[in-house]
Amino acid sequence: MTAAPADIEGVLRKLGLPPRGPLAPLTGGVSCEVFRLDAEGGPYCVKRALAQLRVAADWRAPLERSHSEVRWLQAVADIEGVLAPRVIAEDQAAHLFVMSWFDPATHPVWKAELAAGRVDLAVAHEVGDALGRIHATSARRPDLAAAFRTGDLFHALRLEPYLLHTARAHPDLAGKIETLAAETLAREIALVHGDVSPKNLLIGPGGPVFLDAECAWWGDPAFDLAFCLNHLLLKTVWRPDSAAALITAFETLRSAYAERVDWEPLEALETRATRLLAALLLARIDGKSPVEYLQSDRDRAFVRDAARSYLQTPPERLASLAADWAERIKTR
Ligand SMILES: Nc1ncnc2c1ncn2[C@@H]1O[C@H](COP(=O)(O)OP(=O)(O)OP(=O)(O)O)[C@@H](O)[C@H]1O
Ligand SMILES: [Mg+2]
Repeated sequence: MTAAPADIEGVLRKLGLPPRGPLAPLTGGVSCEVFRLDAEGGPYCVKRALAQLRVAADWRAPLERSHSEVRWLQAVADIEGVLAPRVIAEDQAAHLFVMSWFDPATHPVWKAELAAGRVDLAVAHEVGDALGRIHATSARRPDLAAAFRTGDLFHALRLEPYLLHTARAHPDLAGKIETLAAETLAREIALVHGDVSPKNLLIGPGGPVFLDAECAWWGDPAFDLAFCLNHLLLKTVWRPDSAAALITAFETLRSAYAERVDWEPLEALETRATRLLAALLLARIDGKSPVEYLQSDRDRAFVRDAARSYLQTPPERLASLAADWAERIKTR
């Protein structure tokens, strides 16, 4: 399952990037092997997809997702106000690519910052703004769609493990969740990242750096917005001392994103994002990939109850969902 570093070194030599020393494994990835590579012109980062994800449940993921990530990184490379690693080289057959390196000393993972109680509203603004720029710019480039006809991957990596798995655990809501999944898959609007979570954002002096675009898909941008906002809500349960700041960060990120929405009426986008957010909240409790930091029955029941009520009676806008969530947190 784990590729021998010797194989990777062979691929790197073929790509003209022979390592100058042993590859240094980075922690944090569950679906890939990620290394720091010291080679001519480096340091670089090497990422190779694994067939079997390192999670408790049996979860296999198609290896072509590595190439989706490369194409996403290339597609956003020239968007003003958006930072992501530059692709240096790829061996598509080995499901491996080399990208530019961001020093962890100056580019901490946003999740670690939030966990430490550092909820920086400027960062929330930059994340919302950059995500909005990615969607707005790509929505004007329908020529990109052909390179991201990855609905099968998006179904296998996002809709099935998150939404449809959750639908099976909540038979009374299954119809609503299945409809949401089917309608989401049918939308073709913009370039979606598919995994915009604080764990996949590095916070550097130049702004947030977007990593880990394996789920890239030409589809519904509301998914990325909901996916990211979901993490801010879940963290209010994990870090109650930061709850008020996280709710403010939610609104800051949302409104910075909203400023960029020019491809459709904001209200239409928010209606979908609100429903997706409700389903994703429930998915991170009862789906195939529950958040690791909410373990107690009390915390899990709190999220489950709120998410179920939002699915039953969807709030009109994201701000109304956040206001209800804030009230629940205060009175729990
Ligand atoms: N270009 C880079 N420069 C520096 N560090 C990086 C770079 N790319 C990834 N990393 C580090 O490696 C970690 C894992 O990377 P990434 O999220 O791409 O892998 P993954 O296996 O797909 O992760 P996941 O667990 O989200 O599935 C990141 O959180 C980050 O700390
Ligand atoms: Mg990741």
